[in-house]
Amino acid sequence: MAKDDRFIIAGLGGAKTLHGELNIGGAKNEVLKVLAGSVLFKDGFTVDNVPEIEDVKQIIALLERLGVKVEHPSKNKYSLDTTKLREFSLPADISKKLRASVVITGPLLARFGQVVFPYPGGCVIGKRPIDLFLSGFQKMGAGITEDGETFTVATRDSHLVGAEIFFKNQSVTATETFLMAGVLAKGQTILKNCALEPEIISLGEWLNECGAKITGLGTSTIEIEGTGLLSGAGKVHHTLPDRIEAGSFMILGALAASDLTIKKCCPEHLDALISYLAEAGVKIETGPDWVKVINRGDEKFRALDVKTHEYPGFPTDLQAPFSIFLTQVEGQSYIFETIFEGRLNYFEALNQMGAKAKVLDSHRAIIDGPTPLLGREIESPDLRAGLAYVLAAIIASGQSVVHNVEYIDRGYEEIEKRLAELGLDIKRASGDKEELCQCLPQN
Ligand code: EPU
Repeated sequence: MAKDDRFIIAGLGGAKTLHGELNIGGAKNEVLKVLAGSVLFKDGFTVDNVPEIEDVKQIIALLERLGVKVEHPSKNKYSLDTTKLREFSLPADISKKLRASVVITGPLLARFGQVVFPYPGGCVIGKRPIDLFLSGFQKMGAGITEDGETFTVATRDSHLVGAEIFFKNQSVTATETFLMAGVLAKGQTILKNCALEPEIISLGEWLNECGAKITGLGTSTIEIEGTGLLSGAGKVHHTLPDRIEAGSFMILGALAASDLTIKKCCPEHLDALISYLAEAGVKIETGPDWVKVINRGDEKFRALDVKTHEYPGFPTDLQAPFSIFLTQVEGQSYIFETIFEGRLNYFEALNQMGAKAKVLDSHRAIIDGPTPLLGREIESPDLRAGLAYVLAAIIASGQSVVHNVEYIDRGYEEIEKRLAELGLDIKRASGDKEELCQCLPQN
């Protein structure tokens, strides 16, 4: 992937002409943690339904630097051999790009009694502190030193000790980190105010299948009995469908399709989005593993107040894509982003496309609709806002060029190919060559 990849999209000008069906891939935010969890294994395992996305490539490169042998026998399938895992320092170049790298710190510390890591990177969507991680490690008996760039965390007797940890914020990656650290700690670990995301449950169930003793998954209190290294020889983990990818395509369906069937997904993980879309007036049908969005083409959708919330509430990762939908509904909608304080920055470019949104502060915005959007050149600021810009470009009149596609590639596999199969005129361009931009005059 070249750094300056961009999408050139011929907007539909509000017509709802896309149609067809597509399959949802494996969940990014589950598989990254399952791969990180390989550090807990004495042998290794196979994982399938792995999305071929940049973040997966990065975490695999990171694991390889730690000594894990990774094979890629076929598309969407990886096999890991952890017998030569020796290294407990996270390489800074990769860790600084990937927030999920922080999840490896817990298993490494638990396995080797020490871990060295830089401040983790990832999408710039707010402060993204690591205080919950540092205080949890201390509770489990580790000491921390910091030299301005690197944290060194070390235990006294080469092992963590089970502890009771209360998370002052419900954090996905902190819950996962301590869920995994507890597996190799001495004694019992009790985690309170845990995040409830389905990806965490699936990770915990997988570890249990391989020898862990974790109870309370899917509740706010999780208990882990330290059991020692896990064994996954001959076992295959099947990654959950990505609910954020499925939700992104549902929003696309409501905005731009006559009918769109989203297959190989888990509708029960999409309850919040389904209920918001239905309240706005979108026609949705669901089956055991599919969702269908249907439009006559002339429907008027109603404005909504949306508040992001930890699972099972409305996901922060769908807030930006959903705002594109809200530019097309009748009346004034209100967005309250409660999880991250840097996730409303995409509105400026959206307003330049013709939206009427006002950002009230770092957590709240109002959107007046419906407003037609006009094609423009736009730069993706992060993964989900990047996808939101693709949606905006699709419904706009004229051509748009969406830059910084490398952000979108972090989380969506072959997005342009799948959109083209639904009838969209979308091309990827690379390199320095300026494409002839046929965007409409900028408003
Ligand atoms: N928080 C703290 N201290 C910490 C850690 C988190 O105060 O030590 C706070 C955060 O500032 C935030 C809240 O806790 O206000 C929740 O953040 P969380 O830790 O749950 O976020 P995360 O684990 O860093 C994961 C996903 C994000 C997703 C959030 C919320 C991964 C790798 N990332 O991030 O996914 O938005 O949970 O659901 O699992 C994405 O996929 O685009 C993405 C950003």
